[in-house]
Amino acid sequence: NGADAAALWRARIRDVPDHPRPGVVFKDITPLLADAEAFGTAVEAFADIVARHDVQAVLGLEARGFILGAPVALRTGIGFVPARKAGKLPGPVHREAYQLEYGTAEVEVQHDALAPGQRVLVLDDVLATGGTAGAAIRLVRRCGAEPVAFAVLLELGFLGGRERLAADFPDLPVEAL
Ligand code: PRP
Repeated sequence: NGADAAALWRARIRDVPDHPRPGVVFKDITPLLADAEAFGTAVEAFADIVARHDVQAVLGLEARGFILGAPVALRTGIGFVPARKAGKLPGPVHREAYQLEYGTAEVEVQHDALAPGQRVLVLDDVLATGGTAGAAIRLVRRCGAEPVAFAVLLELGFLGGRERLAADFPDLPVEAL
């Protein structure tokens, strides 16, 4: 059941202190990916979100959103679209900047990656400040497609990402497994 699955996911996500920088506790999902039951039940839970929101494409965020998003797209019979860090995708691309602790970063999606009006699930591993998610949601809109939900494996509630997304995208459901 759902509670057992969530307990397994928790047990397979490792806290790594001081990675990638001192003071940051990194959420390492590699043990979850290495466990077929944990990975499989997570993909099934994301697939339920796809069904519930009548999603037509999965937009996965580099890098761990690729690992989680691709099997969800395959499982649900829809396409997968990568949102990549700047400079990786052959153009033309849409680009959106977002705030980091120090400085800014940028993500890109190819112009023709999504169809106008297409119902898109934006998917990543972790919701922290919400900066990455916000940029990805804006990219979907700039393609003329419709972001219908944002889904992650886990959310770091104390960083306020959910509140920030609610302020910027009031009607967009945020689903954290
Ligand atoms: C992490 C994580 C999310 C993002 C969340 O990615 O995988 O994409 O940070 O943080 P935010 O909500 O504050 O924007 P990271 O920047 O480490 O990139 P990577 O997956 O390529 O390592």
